[in-house]
Amino acid sequence: MTYKLKKICFDEISSTNEYAKELARNTKENILIVANKQTAGRGRLGRTFYSPFGGIYMSVLFHPDRAVEKATDITVMASVAMVRTISSVLGIETQIKWVNDIYLNGKKVCGILTEGIFNSDNNSFDSVVLGVGLNLFTNDFPEDIKDIATSLSDKEKKGVKEALIDKFTQEFFDIFENKKEYFFEYKSRSLILGKTVEYLKDNTLHTANAVDISESGELIVIENGKKILLNSGEIKISASSLFR
Ligand code: BTN
Repeated sequence: MTYKLKKICFDEISSTNEYAKELARNTKENILIVANKQTAGRGRLGRTFYSPFGGIYMSVLFHPDRAVEKATDITVMASVAMVRTISSVLGIETQIKWVNDIYLNGKKVCGILTEGIFNSDNNSFDSVVLGVGLNLFTNDFPEDIKDIATSLSDKEKKGVKEALIDKFTQEFFDIFENKKEYFFEYKSRSLILGKTVEYLKDNTLHTANAVDISESGELIVIENGKKILLNSGEIKISASSLFR
């Protein structure tokens, strides 16, 4: 791994992604920020990410040595890295819900939020903040998410947290640098492909069949016989539609 990471740990922080973005203004170091708890954890589309003690909340701040034009590429690589990590450290097999969620037994166990400092001169990211929230030993979920969220384990085991963090960063940079086989793995772990999905676009609810994911990360659906490419930023897929 050519990306050497300096590690900064917090017992409690508002958001490791926010902290990483602050650091990115003044440093070219690659830094891993880990917190035991977040008080203002953030998810995609302005959502909050429930972040009590027991989970892993981390952000990897790095400065790519080759052009990264789309945050989605990083999210896709990180999803595969996390699935591999959970399998290797805990022997648990998980699935990926396009585009950035990891699921276990039909419930969300991990979310990924990639942000960055974009340089419009060269149309790519100068710095990337890869944020990962993993429900590891998280037990009591609040009422509004208890039916859709789950945890990898119900009791704490020594050394597991560190093993997951180390393995994840290693797997992620291995994929980022070598780009081997990860896209096929992303699709084969998909929770969505082959399913009927509902998505909200321009305030209209659509129903379609998810048939493929493009190399650039769009979900390809067939709706009324027509092929449509969906961009993750524009649509919202209803989780309940995935299990029909
Ligand atoms: C999502 O589910 O939409 C993405 C969740 C990402 C959560 C992680 S936890 C560490 C980092 N800090 C944040 O505030 N968010 C990310």
